[in-house]
Amino acid sequence: MAKEKIILTGDRPTGRLHIGHYVGSLRRRVELQNSGLYDKIFVFMADAQALTDNIENPEKVRQNVIEVALDYLSVGLDPAQSTIFIQSQIPELTELSFYYMDLVTVSRLQRNPTVKTEIQMRNFETSIPVGFFTYPISQAADITAFKATTVPVGEDQEPMLEQCREIVRRFNHIYGETLVEPEILLPDNAACLRLPGTDGKAKMSKSLGNCIYLSDSADEVTKKVKSMFTDPDHLRVQDPGKIEGNTVFTYLDAFCRPEHFERYLPDYPNLDELKAHYQRGGLGDMKVKKFLTAIMQETLEPIRTRRHEFEQDIPGIYDMLKKGCETAREAAAQTLDEVRCAMKLNYFDDAELIAEQARHYAAKQ
Ligand code: TRP
Repeated sequence: MAKEKIILTGDRPTGRLHIGHYVGSLRRRVELQNSGLYDKIFVFMADAQALTDNIENPEKVRQNVIEVALDYLSVGLDPAQSTIFIQSQIPELTELSFYYMDLVTVSRLQRNPTVKTEIQMRNFETSIPVGFFTYPISQAADITAFKATTVPVGEDQEPMLEQCREIVRRFNHIYGETLVEPEILLPDNAACLRLPGTDGKAKMSKSLGNCIYLSDSADEVTKKVKSMFTDPDHLRVQDPGKIEGNTVFTYLDAFCRPEHFERYLPDYPNLDELKAHYQRGGLGDMKVKKFLTAIMQETLEPIRTRRHEFEQDIPGIYDMLKKGCETAREAAAQTLDEVRCAMKLNYFDDAELIAEQARHYAAKQ
């Protein structure tokens, strides 16, 4: 049988998802789901991972599980095609993590650049929780439990994938071919790789207050685009303007499609011409922002509408998640069986082993 193509990806439920998540990963997941090219798709809320740096905020994590589930459904993830589940409900993942811990050194974990940055951001330097420090290992369990071949995530997750691949190789080398080595699938355009915040800062983040959320109202979106960072030296319309570092143009790179010009800005044939005019001078920020607002509203309106519909049936969403957890558990349990078997931890289902040991001790009599 040809190797199955399996997607796995997830998000920490620490807040509502924003348009950085959307262009960085969510939009792609839905395309992959609808492409029909994958045998299985797993998408999950990494609540246990979220707790590794939110141990005192369990209520925040709990509330955001439903927010993220609503975000997933509203962008078009379809439970009939994708298994949507909650990490903490799959105990097999913890057991896998425990075994994988033996395959990773402390110094290897210390080199993980994403974890390093996060430790600094959270002022953990002097007291890093062990669970937080080891989350790349638990993430390898998340990925391998489902035999994922493809993991669509943002650039910041690259070190996690590398760690996972190392664990897989080490495991298979020691115990025989058991685990599947996954591949990362990054966004294909630089603007989507790391969408800046509306203030032009490198990253969209809740604590910086520079996010546009998928669940923002139309008014909020309009307001946020209006106050967006552009080129601070572009003071008068006739001045030449800069494109690099100009958030409005970065967002256009991420969201604009050719048909948007026909619809909202027919004076220009494409984005390159719009950029050229801005750079020459004579094109005002307001005009570009109006164009971006129209595109953002067109993109977000259907998401918002679907979200309102799903919000009418919260119990139904929990039912869907429960089913997702059951399906996910079956898959993870199968892998765990194989792992235990490879690691010689399957004492009770190897009749041959028991018989051989019986013969051995009988012969000693
Ligand atoms: N670390 C990811 C994030 O910060 C969430 C995550 C946990 C994940 N386990 C994963 C992503 C496995 C992809 C695959 O959003």
